[in-house]
Amino acid sequence: MKETLLKSAENTMMKTYLPYPVIMEKGKGVYLYDTEGKEYLDMGSGIGVNSLGHNHPKLTKALKEQAENLLHVSNLYYNKAQIEAMETLVGNTNFDKVFFCNSGTEANEAAIKLARKYGQMKSPDKTKIITMDQGFHGRTYGSLSATAQPEFWEGFGPMVEGFVSVKFNDIHDFKDKFNAQVCAVILEVIQGESGIIMADKEYIEAVRDMTEANDTILIIDEVQTGVGRTGKFFAHEYYDIEADVVTMAKGLGGGVPIGAVLCKDRYNAFKPKDHGTTFGGNPLVTKAASVVLNEVIEGNLLEKVAESGQYLEKQLIRLKEKYSVIKEIRGIGLMRSIEFNIPSKEIIKGCIEEGLLVVGSKDNIIRLLPPLIIEKEDIAKGINMLDKVIGLVI
Ligand SMILES: Cc1ncc(COP(=O)(O)O)c(C=O)c1O
Repeated sequence: MKETLLKSAENTMMKTYLPYPVIMEKGKGVYLYDTEGKEYLDMGSGIGVNSLGHNHPKLTKALKEQAENLLHVSNLYYNKAQIEAMETLVGNTNFDKVFFCNSGTEANEAAIKLARKYGQMKSPDKTKIITMDQGFHGRTYGSLSATAQPEFWEGFGPMVEGFVSVKFNDIHDFKDKFNAQVCAVILEVIQGESGIIMADKEYIEAVRDMTEANDTILIIDEVQTGVGRTGKFFAHEYYDIEADVVTMAKGLGGGVPIGAVLCKDRYNAFKPKDHGTTFGGNPLVTKAASVVLNEVIEGNLLEKVAESGQYLEKQLIRLKEKYSVIKEIRGIGLMRSIEFNIPSKEIIKGCIEEGLLVVGSKDNIIRLLPPLIIEKEDIAKGINMLDKVIGLVI
């Protein structure tokens, strides 16, 4: 069966990814199983998505019940699941309003439009958006234009105009490029796709001070870092600042496609017909989001993530001491990376063969983004596998 399926994929799939030749079939907790029955410890969570692991009893039950009740209605009507999810988000954050969509890139598209609308209400030329070098915001044109990594633009120009990139963590560059025409700054406080690079606290504080003083919207992209991934609900809470607009996706739905933009009342510039989505906020996905949010907020998952994150860090420090090919370990909570001074491709492949799933970044980095529910024993098991693989590869 496997060979037939792989052949079929080879014939039918657009090659935007180059998947490893394994076909995943089912999952339970922090484990995945392929069509051959091989078990994998999932320390990638589908790139930070399966926050409650696989086949979580509460999430599966809620989705089954919701499917029996109502899968989809348009946004021409209200639906109960959506209202409940918005209430939970607003009730547990510093934000007042919510827009649901289907992915991280769409959340950033909406945030960019919102910021431009707000800016132009103040002055017609307040349209520029400052972005961070090596940031990542998605693959659709607005978000791609905000992704200041020209290698992602090759062959797809021209990008949307009005985006100005600055050097991450360099306040002088920021000050040089900041002016009254800037309607928004978009940034990740921890750059996930680029290998888990943390912003400096003083940098974020200075950016916050300047944006606040100029009525410039600070959009924080929490698509990868949000919903407890770092041990706090939002990663920007570590920086003791508030965002004006925040974007979310990935872990919010625990596996169903959902994105969200949250904003403070002051920035709620959208009027009817300004923006829209057919699927965004439908009952199935918002039901899932409510289950995830309740588990993270009420189920004390944040403390658990902080604790298991520290345990993971200790294990990674141990690996770094053992292997000189490890250049640096970075991150916080259950969002960690290992930067090697050798290519990481063979290590990622070796891990899969060993039964461990990790996520690559650049050419020499691996990311560990396990489900938030992971127990220490499984972290230890994963680290042992990684230890063995590094030893074999070098
Ligand atoms: C910080 C950040 N923003 C946006 C995105 C895009 O999200 P999506 O792939 O759901 O469109 C990603 C995806 O990796 C991300 O890490």
